[in-house]
Amino acid sequence: MSESQLWHAVDEYVADRLLTDAPDEALAAALRDSDAAGLPPIAVSAPAGKLLQILAQVQGARNILEIGTLGGYSTIWLGRALPAGGRLISLEYEPRHAEVAVRNIARAGLDKQVEVRVGAALDSLPRLADENPPPFDLVFIDADKVNNAHYMEWALRLTSAGSLIVLDNVVRGGRVADQDNTDPDVVGTRAALDMIGSHPRLTGTAIQTVGVKGYDGFALARVLA
Ligand code: SAH
Ligand code: DHB
Ligand code: MG
Repeated sequence: MSESQLWHAVDEYVADRLLTDAPDEALAAALRDSDAAGLPPIAVSAPAGKLLQILAQVQGARNILEIGTLGGYSTIWLGRALPAGGRLISLEYEPRHAEVAVRNIARAGLDKQVEVRVGAALDSLPRLADENPPPFDLVFIDADKVNNAHYMEWALRLTSAGSLIVLDNVVRGGRVADQDNTDPDVVGTRAALDMIGSHPRLTGTAIQTVGVKGYDGFALARVLA
């Protein structure tokens, strides 16, 4: 077995043995319909979706913000963690992705709690801030990586002490640490990580991962004040 075949096999093993709560047909259907609609296959893996859900539960999150909806797969994992009356806002640039997501989210029975806002997140975020929403307990940043540092700035504005910010795809096959790599996505992610390391209101870490999506990783940042 190649390394990547092993990573697939272990993700399947984990899904089979650990993700054993009542089978969530809406999650499987969300992936099927996203695929059928031609959306790129870049949703979080099932084990990572479950991690997001557990993090939201540990946070006792009542208000969740997601940047980058795609077909709503991670949205459903997070939405399932919400208590009654909890709310999730997800920002998506592509109307086609948002349409698929809205259907997937409704099928999951989350349409009352989840709102998908269409537009460039850097346009939607100032509008959202103008509404003075309650602080978000968890922010999941998973959109265009070039803007990751800007998304971190907005996440800081929209959270309060104890909030958790999760930043996806920070390792990208190790490119983050290759100083010769000046890909704008990598540069954007480095700027976001530098912010976590240097901002007085943030403390955090990053974890490398392997799995069905290859070699990547995520960062966690806790808001201090
Ligand atoms: N969180 C999803 C995957 C998101 S993929 C999941 O795990 O299921 C990244 C998404 O970000 C894509 O749908 C892409 O259209 C969207 N995106 C890209 N640029 C964006 C922007 N400027 N504002 C908002 N969304 C953006
Ligand atoms: C890509 C984006 C993602 O958010 C992800 O998890 C994997 C890949 C991409 O744009 O290639
Ligand atoms: Mg991602």
